[in-house]
Amino acid sequence: MRRKIVAGNWKMNGSRALVKQLMAPVGSELAALDNGVGVVIIPPALYVADVLESAVPGVEVGVQNIARWNSGAYTGEISGAMARDSGCGYVLVGHSERRQLFDETDEQIAAKVGQALDSGLTAILCVGETLAQRNAGTAEHVVAGQLRAGLVNVGDNQWPGIVVAYEPVWAIGTGETATAEDAQAMHAAIRNELEKLGAPADELSLLYGGSVKADNAAALFAQQDIDGGLIGGASLKAEEFMSICRAVPGSY
Ligand code: 13P
Repeated sequence: MRRKIVAGNWKMNGSRALVKQLMAPVGSELAALDNGVGVVIIPPALYVADVLESAVPGVEVGVQNIARWNSGAYTGEISGAMARDSGCGYVLVGHSERRQLFDETDEQIAAKVGQALDSGLTAILCVGETLAQRNAGTAEHVVAGQLRAGLVNVGDNQWPGIVVAYEPVWAIGTGETATAEDAQAMHAAIRNELEKLGAPADELSLLYGGSVKADNAAALFAQQDIDGGLIGGASLKAEEFMSICRAVPGSY
């Protein structure tokens, strides 16, 4: 059975003080959650140790990026092995902000997915179309291409280390969300494409991201192929984030 996951991507936000402030309610409320959701906190890498220190058992931690190499003279970079060694279980790869603002290419993203898997991290591969691509009717084609390119290095036995997050670029940080029906349609298309790539598609978790809030989470998470969410802005508000975690249905 696939895992239900709510992951909070803090992006370049936060401080040591905020870690304490956010993690306390996560800890106290998580114990009361009985829907089996896996909670993953993805802070800036410098705060991974602080998050781990304040995290209750059951909360997992990730980084927002890793290098596409495993070690060496790459000033400023952090390897997958280092993230794993520091207690992380997850890494975001191919977030649209990295694709757009840092010119990450499909080849670089595929290399990072490979590094993640070789390091024992679960890679959350982010895919999603722009508004222009959606309006042109090419959204599914674009997303399928991102999947094929990003997952090219995944070996037959490495699929359990893959989670896909569908984040339409036009919905990130804008307050615009895909309707639950549109998000479901894309998630079904993603599962179909994963099947074609030889993945055990029914067993992989697919997350929706893009302006998920406490008041729209339940409708999204009720969809058959949506296994949780990747949350940006709302993950920086403890009460709202925990409401989103509670919105995951208890069983399929
Ligand atoms: P928002 O939830 O702020 O729209 O961000 C989504 C996102 O990019 C998560 O990775």
